Amino acid sequence: MWYRHCLPCLSMMNSGRNEEQNRRIQALEQQVRLLEEALKQSSRIRDQWHEANRQLTASRQALKNSETLHRQVTNSSFDAILIVDDDDGTICTANPAAVRIFGYPAQAWEGMNIAILIPQGLELKRSHLYQNASPREDLGTIFQQVETEALHNDGHAFPIELTLSVLDTSPPRLMATVRDISERKRFVDELENRVQERTSSLKKLSEAVEQAPEAILITDCFGTIEYVNKTFTKFTGYEANEVIGRNPRILKSGQQDVQFYARMWETITSGQHWQSRVVERRKNGTFYPALLSISPIMDNEKNITHFVGYHQDMTDLQILEEQFHQAQKMEAVGAMVGGIAHEFNNMLAGITGNLYLAKFQDDLSQETTDFMNNIESLSFNAAEMIQQLLAFSRKGSVARRTIPLAVFCKETLKLQAISLPESITLRSAIAHDEMAVKGDPILLQQALINLINNARDAVSGVDDPEIFVEITPYTAEKSFFERHSELSVRHFARISITDNGCGVTPEQLEHIFEPFYTTKEVGKGTGLGLSMVYGAVRSHGGAIEVAPVEPHGACFHLYLPLMEEGDHDVLPVKADKIMRGCGETIMLVDDDESVLSTVQSILETLGYIVITACDGQEAVDFFEQHDDEVHLVLLDLMMPRLGGVDAAQLIKQRRPNIRILFATGYDLNKTLNMDIEESGALVLNKPFKITTLSQFIRRSLA
Ligand SMILES: Nc1ncnc2c1ncn2[C@@H]1O[C@H](COP(=O)(O)OP(=O)(O)OP(=O)(O)O)[C@@H](O)[C@H]1O
Ligand SMILES: [Mg+2]
Repeated sequence: MWYRHCLPCLSMMNSGRNEEQNRRIQALEQQVRLLEEALKQSSRIRDQWHEANRQLTASRQALKNSETLHRQVTNSSFDAILIVDDDDGTICTANPAAVRIFGYPAQAWEGMNIAILIPQGLELKRSHLYQNASPREDLGTIFQQVETEALHNDGHAFPIELTLSVLDTSPPRLMATVRDISERKRFVDELENRVQERTSSLKKLSEAVEQAPEAILITDCFGTIEYVNKTFTKFTGYEANEVIGRNPRILKSGQQDVQFYARMWETITSGQHWQSRVVERRKNGTFYPALLSISPIMDNEKNITHFVGYHQDMTDLQILEEQFHQAQKMEAVGAMVGGIAHEFNNMLAGITGNLYLAKFQDDLSQETTDFMNNIESLSFNAAEMIQQLLAFSRKGSVARRTIPLAVFCKETLKLQAISLPESITLRSAIAHDEMAVKGDPILLQQALINLINNARDAVSGVDDPEIFVEITPYTAEKSFFERHSELSVRHFARISITDNGCGVTPEQLEHIFEPFYTTKEVGKGTGLGLSMVYGAVRSHGGAIEVAPVEPHGACFHLYLPLMEEGDHDVLPVKADKIMRGCGETIMLVDDDESVLSTVQSILETLGYIVITACDGQEAVDFFEQHDDEVHLVLLDLMMPRLGGVDAAQLIKQRRPNIRILFATGYDLNKTLNMDIEESGALVLNKPFKITTLSQFIRRSLA
């Protein structure tokens, strides 16, 4: 600056001049300094102005950017953003999402009230928010979020999530952010439904496991118990909390060896299913048979995470199996014995018949007659034994008479008491006079006598020997039918014969009903008594059971079906004397030649004319071809080609008034029995005494 160079020259001139000039110079200098200061000041202001101008431009730009950003954010928001006037609820601004969500075109928003969109009676006011919403410091605003319903332009309501916040504006405004949550709701509802379905199916599954009839236990992969169901507790006596965390080896009975468990582990750890019968030990130390199945449970990577074990208690099944085998065995023995008895019966019929005829010979010495009588009595002893065998095999015929049980038992006991040693006390409790069964009194009496005789033998040698006979009504329960699945009748008369004798061991129990099983000395017992009782009771549709008696002894229960209304009697025949014929014609039909010829001779000696046929078919053919007068047909039941019952039916079709008499040594099964009973024909058991035969014939012809 030019004046800076002038100032030193002025001051040199000053020293040589007057004061006036000095003052003027100083004043000038002062002015120059002031000017210099003013110049500096103005340059600073100009800088500041530039700076302020620059900042203003930057702020304007930032504001513009921010506005653009806000607009973009608002416009691109997925949720509807509505700025609402706080006074009257008019919508001031609505973003494009609002157009999409509510379905109103852009021009329709002008002056629209928010109540049209959200009519649910919500208080959309700042004052309300101030009262009801708490300020969110993190958001720096007052804020409320609710789920409610909104109304679309097309009239349908849809669920929304509404967020209200107070805007710090003048005039006062609210911002409403609306999110359409229809999809979310649908998804949540669907999810909830699925969760509910799954929960209920899981509940069902866990209930099924819990209530399963098998004991179920789940262990981890090391065998530590994690879960047991209720049946486990029922079978083993262990409560869940007593076994969880422990090892299933607490159930080991010691009946399976180490190798057995080693094989089991080898199988299940290799991922395979394992099953075996085992004997397990309950908490109280008792054992039970079980069918144990173990399956490994694997994760997605096929790693074993758990084992699940199922225990099926086999106690009942084992008993049933044993009963089944026992029944099968008895059936097989019965069939064999029945077959042999049948053959013997026919032979005995021949022997006794021939004896009868032989006795008519002249000039028989007394000695020969005695021998013959001996043969006859031995034959009838043999026949009695065979009757027992037939009774066991249920192949003998069974009469069907009404038996008033109380009277019947009292009579039998009276008879039997005489033969009992005096030392034995025979007691009885026989009330229920009204009880009656339908059956064969002779067979049942023999059964009762056999049981009393067995009791007598069992108490020999014990102190105060006692036999007690009791009759009670009995209504079968489920367990009875489980033991006797072949029975269906519910109401029985139960005859119980109890003694305080030696008792029956479990080993004996397996065999006592088999024919010829005896523990008695040779000559003291044949072993046929109980087998006869067994067969007799079964052929009456009943059952027999043996129960131990404490402290010692045995109790035999006979269950006989009580008589039902409508049951009727078949009258017995008394055979005590020979009754002769009056020349009537009898057709004799039998496939056994020896029986045929012997019985023919007997009938002829009794005064009958006899025509013979070797089977049912031949007999029927005879009636087809001849009109001869035949008064009675004596038919064997079991014959080749055509049996007795069928033949009788065909003959009756042709000759309705013909009298029929059946003879059998065998095979009166139920059906035959019924058919015969219905026809009213009599049945004669082979081998028959001549007296009985003669009585039966007279009775049939009467
Ligand atoms: N009341 C009882 N107490 C103990 N054991 C019995 C009793 N009844 C029968 N037993 C046993 O059952 C076996 C078979 O009996 P069962 O009546 O069939 O033949 P038995 O009495 O030996 O000979 P039988 O009756 O033919 O003369 C008997 O030998 C005996 O061991
Ligand atoms: Mg006996």
